[in-house]
Amino acid sequence: MTLGASGTAQADVRLAESKQCLQCHAVDRHAIGPSFQTIKAVYRDMRDPQTRLIEVMRDGSEAHLGPHWGKARMPNDRERPKISDDEAKQLARWILAR
Ligand code: HEC
Repeated sequence: MTLGASGTAQADVRLAESKQCLQCHAVDRHAIGPSFQTIKAVYRDMRDPQTRLIEVMRDGSEAHLGPHWGKARMPNDRERPKISDDEAKQLARWILAR
């Protein structure tokens, strides 16, 4: 992947990759799931978007916080590699910075 970004951004991408997020999501286009830019556009106007994004990462589509975007569902915590609280915060911050 070409990034040309700072070391921090690359660490974020590596984290997203290692937690399988990038198997279903891309930053700027719809894949199996919505792009992170689209997600950001929906969540940034909510109150406390970081907390909500973390809930979605924990509970997947069952969190029922955002729109249902298509037929596919977002897997929950038990169906994906474990994410620590710090990692969840880091991913949420990363999404909100897209
Ligand atoms: C197996 C495929 C898959 C994986 C892996 C996956 N997602 Fe998703 N994600 C989806 C789909 C599909 C949706 C749309 C869910 C819906 O429409 O209910 C989604 C939705 C989301 C949303 C928005 C939810 C909403 O309802 O608005 C966020 C945030 C998100 N994913 C973050 C992540 C992060 C972070 C990871 C990695 C920890 C991840 N996803 C891994 C498929 C996936």
